[in-house]
Amino acid sequence: MRILIHGGFFSESSQSNETKHKKQQALLEILNQGKDFLKNHSALESAVYTAKLLEDNPLFNAGIGSQIQSDGKIRMSAALMDGVNQKFSGVINIEDIQNPVLIAQKLMKEEDRVLGGIGATNYAKDAGFPMFSTETAERRHEFLTKKQSLGTGTIGCVVQDRKGRLAAATSTGGKGFEIPGRISDSATIAGNYANEYCAISCTGVGEDIVSGGLATKIVTRVTDGMPLEKAFEKSFNELKPYDGFAGAIGVTKKGEIFYQESHPKIVFAAFNGEADIVFT
Ligand code: GLY
Repeated sequence: MRILIHGGFFSESSQSNETKHKKQQALLEILNQGKDFLKNHSALESAVYTAKLLEDNPLFNAGIGSQIQSDGKIRMSAALMDGVNQKFSGVINIEDIQNPVLIAQKLMKEEDRVLGGIGATNYAKDAGFPMFSTETAERRHEFLTKKQSLGTGTIGCVVQDRKGRLAAATSTGGKGFEIPGRISDSATIAGNYANEYCAISCTGVGEDIVSGGLATKIVTRVTDGMPLEKAFEKSFNELKPYDGFAGAIGVTKKGEIFYQESHPKIVFAAFNGEADIVFT
């Protein structure tokens, strides 16, 4: 049983020690709630449960506390991948929903599993999800003062359950100030990918992650026999020519866990089967 979560990036230069401490505490609490849930649930159910907790915490840029786009609106994206049957589902640029990951979960049972824009929002409404504004006063203030707050980032979770099954969930409020219609990596296979061998969730600049095909590439390398750490190293090296800004967390069927970032520092916590670890 393994579980890793991330909450984007922390910047020593633009964020305080107090913020760092709050994020460490929040991640450890959520990790432990996820771990408890995982004792009696599948990897997929646990990835959704834990991602929802991260979406509900305004410290992180997903669900409540999402970044505001250049036209003043919030549009969120989230995806889920079941490593057992290799099914991917997701929503892109959904509006006014508290937990985009729950819509991705519902879509898992549909034939059409990735919905975008108004179609995604209408699907959620029709399914009975209440309309909910995820805007916080802090994000509105940042928007009004045009203060970009890179460092809050995407959230994600990768899980290996008792039966060795893997799953990945990723959710984001985007970069902030983006052109409406911009598509994040989070609900693509570059940002969120899993199969029976490996599960990966990414954070960072969506364009860089998509250019690097990051999650898919790491999973494919592990599937072909490369140890997880080497697969991360090689895939992150391939971001260097264009100074790609990314971080990722991963777990394998064998129980290896790993995380890496191209720039300091990814905000993450993990249970490695024996102990909890948190970013410092
Ligand atoms: N990784 C989140 C985004 O770029 O939208």
